[in-house]
Amino acid sequence: MRIKINGERLSDELEQLACFSDAPAPAVTRILYSEQDLKARDFIKGLAEKAELSIREDALGNTFFRLEGSDPSLSAVATGSHIDAIPHSGRYDGTVGVLGGLEALRALKESGLELKRSLELILFTAEEPTRFGVGCLGSRAMAGTLSLKDILELKDEDGKSPDEVRREAGFKGELEDVQLSQNTYHAFVELHIEQGPLLEQKNMPIGVVTAIAAPSTLHIKLEGEGGHAGAVLMPQRKDALLAAAEIALSAEEAARTSGSIDSVATVGILDVHPRAVNSIPSRAFMTLDVRDTNLARRDKMIEDIKEAAETITADRKIKLTLKTINADPPATCSEHIIHATEAAARNLGLDTLPMVSRAYHDTLFMARICSVGMIFIPCKDGISHRPDEYASPKDINKGVRVLAQTLADLAS
Ligand code: GLV
Ligand code: MN
Ligand code: MN
Repeated sequence: MRIKINGERLSDELEQLACFSDAPAPAVTRILYSEQDLKARDFIKGLAEKAELSIREDALGNTFFRLEGSDPSLSAVATGSHIDAIPHSGRYDGTVGVLGGLEALRALKESGLELKRSLELILFTAEEPTRFGVGCLGSRAMAGTLSLKDILELKDEDGKSPDEVRREAGFKGELEDVQLSQNTYHAFVELHIEQGPLLEQKNMPIGVVTAIAAPSTLHIKLEGEGGHAGAVLMPQRKDALLAAAEIALSAEEAARTSGSIDSVATVGILDVHPRAVNSIPSRAFMTLDVRDTNLARRDKMIEDIKEAAETITADRKIKLTLKTINADPPATCSEHIIHATEAAARNLGLDTLPMVSRAYHDTLFMARICSVGMIFIPCKDGISHRPDEYASPKDINKGVRVLAQTLADLAS
């Protein structure tokens, strides 16, 4: 039986979702538990209610939309993604997996196909690290990768913990109950834009993810000595910013000389104190994001950067504090889901490209508790985390068709 996707409905909903933003269009900024995030969640809950899916929310705001299967003794098949958006980013990252997942569930419901397993759409809380510094907050907690103690220790820029802000946002229940058991899901499949250029370059409609690269984040604090920009002579300076600059360059060097194109390192935040034109920076704070498809190579990069940071700060007489926020292993997608996705695409006459995800996703953590897979669709020029991020309705619809067919296969 043919599963019929309503592409117009989906395009329209993506358009509406993009309006819940703290940045002017086409940019999207949607930070965890902000007013816009909560409004966007309400919008999606409204659509799910209309589709007659049952809704459950956990204490962190991970939201589960369920379509019952015919055999309640079987574990469910899940899909989903995130709707939070980093500052000044685009409208497709995560949202295609949430609204596309919803469209897949609606299409399966409307198709009348008998599915033994229940289907769930998961809207994950805070895939992006913006508010608490750690990515995939919701899925990490669900998988037990982030313990209750770890969650309680996190703080946002205002010094508030996730427990405080989730209560303020109206999420009730116990944080202890967020973690799911190993048998909750039979499989999890996430639909996402590629966030890279390969599908478009190779003119391929569907990417089938085989593995997700290993991400790590470090926070680096540098404490030197401030002073008057005119009066303190160069030999006497302990400029925290200059140490940070050298460390950032050492990170670039570590990634460029690792021997693999898969190695990447980024300093995405650099704050200085007191931040005045005529004052030597006494303190600097920087984040370091290091990733690789190979865990040993990723860890070697981190070691090299740490070593360089120690030498740089010793030479400049700067106090260095390094904190590892996360250092996650890569994830491997399950053969049976890869095959199901390839077969679904083949049935729809769509070519597939096996690929590695260089970005992380909630799938990285769902892999700790069930079999996982990911479906990628092309995005224009491979651009993501920018306001000009774009995926065409045609490409999105193809991805949703493959997702729906894959879910049907896994659930029957
Ligand atoms: C997710 O947005 C990532 O940074 O890979
Ligand atoms: Mn993202
Ligand atoms: Mn994403």
